[in-house]
Amino acid sequence: MYSRLSNDISPFTVMQLVQRAGEFEAKGKRVVHFEVGEPDFQTALPIAAAGHTALDAGQTKYTSARGIGVLRQCIADFYADQGITVSAERIIVTSGASGGLVLLSSLLLDAGDELLITDPGYPCNEVFAKLVGGVPIKVPVFAKNRFQPTLADIQNAWGEKTRGVLLASPANPTGTMLAEDELIAIQHFVEGQGGFFILDEIYQNLTRDHVSYTTGLSLCPDIFVLNSFSKFFGMTGWRLGWVVVPELAVGPMTKLAQNLFISPSTVAQYAAVAAFTDAAMSIHNQRKKTFEARAKILAHGLVALGFNIPVMPDGAFYLYVDISHTNMDSADFCWRLIEEYQVAVTPGYDFGDSNAGRYVRFAYTTSDESIKLGLERLSCALEDWGLKV
Ligand SMILES: Cc1ncc(COP(=O)(O)O)c(C=O)c1O
Repeated sequence: MYSRLSNDISPFTVMQLVQRAGEFEAKGKRVVHFEVGEPDFQTALPIAAAGHTALDAGQTKYTSARGIGVLRQCIADFYADQGITVSAERIIVTSGASGGLVLLSSLLLDAGDELLITDPGYPCNEVFAKLVGGVPIKVPVFAKNRFQPTLADIQNAWGEKTRGVLLASPANPTGTMLAEDELIAIQHFVEGQGGFFILDEIYQNLTRDHVSYTTGLSLCPDIFVLNSFSKFFGMTGWRLGWVVVPELAVGPMTKLAQNLFISPSTVAQYAAVAAFTDAAMSIHNQRKKTFEARAKILAHGLVALGFNIPVMPDGAFYLYVDISHTNMDSADFCWRLIEEYQVAVTPGYDFGDSNAGRYVRFAYTTSDESIKLGLERLSCALEDWGLKV
């Protein structure tokens, strides 16, 4: 009775872990949450206040399908501050990056068309391709290449039916960025094949100081760029994102946006205008520093416990951790941790098949105190399981 796609999609282990965590919490037990990829902070007050004001002013009607002009201009200015000229015309505001992915798949893929994505990678990517009858092709990526594809990986995976690539920089679950030269080389190759390149930059700005570029648009102005208010701007529940498209794609994207979504959330858009004010930006930047400090505490603690973090992230709020010294499969490891120690961590299986049993993802979207408690519990677990180094 239900579609093949709906039968095909597997539920995420992380959701089952979240549910189990909730059951422990309902019984009064404290759970340490390293599983959820969502900032633990409330949306910054200037944004929430702008949302209230918009509601009070009756901003509750549909907007233009591309989003309100003032917000698109703020996003264009955000790029201008990074030294990149992107006209507001090329910016389409969407219902989260997720809405952006629905639009991009609808714009760029026909039934049977192949889309190259990474493994590990953001798990929903394959579903967006399948939604329009596309065929996701997983390109395995490895620690030796910072969990990003090389030009050769893309060339080898490219076939007759391949239409494009969807990469992320920084990526989920690894937090690594595509190297500048590799990004440019892949774009040249893809262009030569008449294909498209989508770069997911949803973790833009949550990057370390050493990174050499903030947006792929500074290197390749004609790629499709996906972004969101969810992560750096701390607005997950407002469901707002944007895409930057080449000029020729504006018309077709607008038609799709009109038909598939009518418009993004009006109140969220007016609130998001305040996300770019100095007051809000200083809060976001402060939180970014907090994430960096947490990453250090967590990475240091995990390494001291004998875990291997083969690649330190360039950004986002994740550590992709090799647990092979435990000789446990990542799913067993995560289930035993939540059941016996109430520490929630996501197994590699949620992000693909490549070495999935060997890796787990820690999200440091929780307080220093909670991270320290999590490390103490991990230490006890290793001791009890006879795995202490
Ligand atoms: C890499 C990546 N892309 C896209 C999304 C979707 O984000 P949203 O729809 O909240 O903007 C996520 C969410 O975690 C993500 O990690």
